[in-house]
Amino acid sequence: MKPQISRISQISPDQSVVCIVGKNRIPGFLRLGKIEKEYALKQLKAGDEYVFINSYFRCIYLIRIKSELSDFRAREELRKTAYNISKLVKSNNHSELVITSYDAYCGAVEDFAEGLTLSIYSFDKYKTKKPGEPVKSYPSKLLLYGDTDKASVKWLDAVTDAVYIARDLINEPVNYLNASKLAEEVRKTGRSAGFSVEVLNKGKIEALKMGGLLAVNRGSVDPPAFCILEWKPGKHLNRKPLVLIGKGIVYDTGGLNIKTGDYMAMMKGDMAGAATVTGVFYAAARNGIPLHIIGFIPATDNRPGGNAYTPGDVITMHNKMTVEIGNTDAEGRLILADAISYAAKYDPELIIDVATLTGSAAVTFGNKAIALMTNADRKYISLLEECGQIVYERIAELPFWDEYGEMIKSDIADIRNVGGREAGAITAGKFLENFTTTPLIHLDIAGTGLLKKDDYYRLKQGPGSGIRLLATFLRQLAANYNSYKH
Ligand code: BES
Ligand code: MN
Ligand code: ZN
Repeated sequence: MKPQISRISQISPDQSVVCIVGKNRIPGFLRLGKIEKEYALKQLKAGDEYVFINSYFRCIYLIRIKSELSDFRAREELRKTAYNISKLVKSNNHSELVITSYDAYCGAVEDFAEGLTLSIYSFDKYKTKKPGEPVKSYPSKLLLYGDTDKASVKWLDAVTDAVYIARDLINEPVNYLNASKLAEEVRKTGRSAGFSVEVLNKGKIEALKMGGLLAVNRGSVDPPAFCILEWKPGKHLNRKPLVLIGKGIVYDTGGLNIKTGDYMAMMKGDMAGAATVTGVFYAAARNGIPLHIIGFIPATDNRPGGNAYTPGDVITMHNKMTVEIGNTDAEGRLILADAISYAAKYDPELIIDVATLTGSAAVTFGNKAIALMTNADRKYISLLEECGQIVYERIAELPFWDEYGEMIKSDIADIRNVGGREAGAITAGKFLENFTTTPLIHLDIAGTGLLKKDDYYRLKQGPGSGIRLLATFLRQLAANYNSYKH
């Protein structure tokens, strides 16, 4: 369970407290004894990252921030420190924990609470509970005290909820979470947050002639699904909707071009893009962001099977273009392309797709940046870059020149689903660009969306990459919408 994050206006003497200090000074309201205070000051001055004081009735954690400035790096350091003490905090089984600050920058309390919340997540649905073991995980409440404002605490609670929802989806194995189940979970999330979800079944997908999604699904024993999410508040600022699309490959074996070695290891998480889109809708709806947003999640597994699509096949996509299959493991772009072309029906202002699309993006940037490819107006990209710094989900742009498009020409069809080994992330992006005339922002989260080990509070397997980034982007876009209007 995610701890609930809320504000309080008073600390009682028996409550355990995390206090972030900007200088080597300890506030009186902590009521430390003389010896405790001397000890704490000595440790802080020695440069310790944190000081832990375990008294009889309560625990005190003092955190020294690493810079008096609230630049992006200092904020990130605080989230990381939260990860570094999260095991200790967990082991103390606090049902409630107060987080406050003294001499620290504005927002420090929220940053720490965010880092801590994201660090204490665990996916234990399949762990057998020992008899008598409490089902709760601790702390179950984070109480923010002092320098915080109501709106940002509400935002934080909703966004961290969104990340938890996405992580649960990414962690679910395919023997539970097939395409239909994913659609059901998206529907459930919509009901709880207040956005609408329509699910197109296989018959409808066939009627719409989504040849990419249907081709990838051919090796599967489970039907595909196509989710349509919509958040349309009464007073939205945009005339044309924004479209968000998430790759929903619930398992990627590679298909007939089967993945070898351990390349298949994390592929239950190949729907991380879908989880991100679901999370962003959840955050947008919970916070009432005044924008009209449409989301698409094309979903299927990618498997070999008696009827599986094969290298050499030529398929016809939703937009009537023909695609020669060079490799069945380049399946993500096929299902995304159908969704991108389907978006035309809504005449969007902008399309953003999020996908664990290419090993190439992961090789290029590691887990340090989301790869961005785009033909959209720079005003969106500058805002996205800025949001990336704020939440520390940074984006790095790859060139998107027309010449890269020439690498996916086909001898017998309109285009091929793979280029060569070179520039693999870019040719994948270029493939997608063929399916729309709307400005496109393509985010490849192959490097950031699936992790083999914890990167601090970005926990292993599915850290929930891109949710804080895109939720913040939408919030800022709405806040400044008039200057973004064309
Ligand atoms: N889902 C994978 C990409 C991936 C790899 C995501 C590693 C996360 C970690 C995608 O469907 C894929 O298999 N891509 C191929 C494309 C190739 C066949 C052109 C790749 O990147 O190897
Ligand atoms: Mn693949
Ligand atoms: Zn894939």
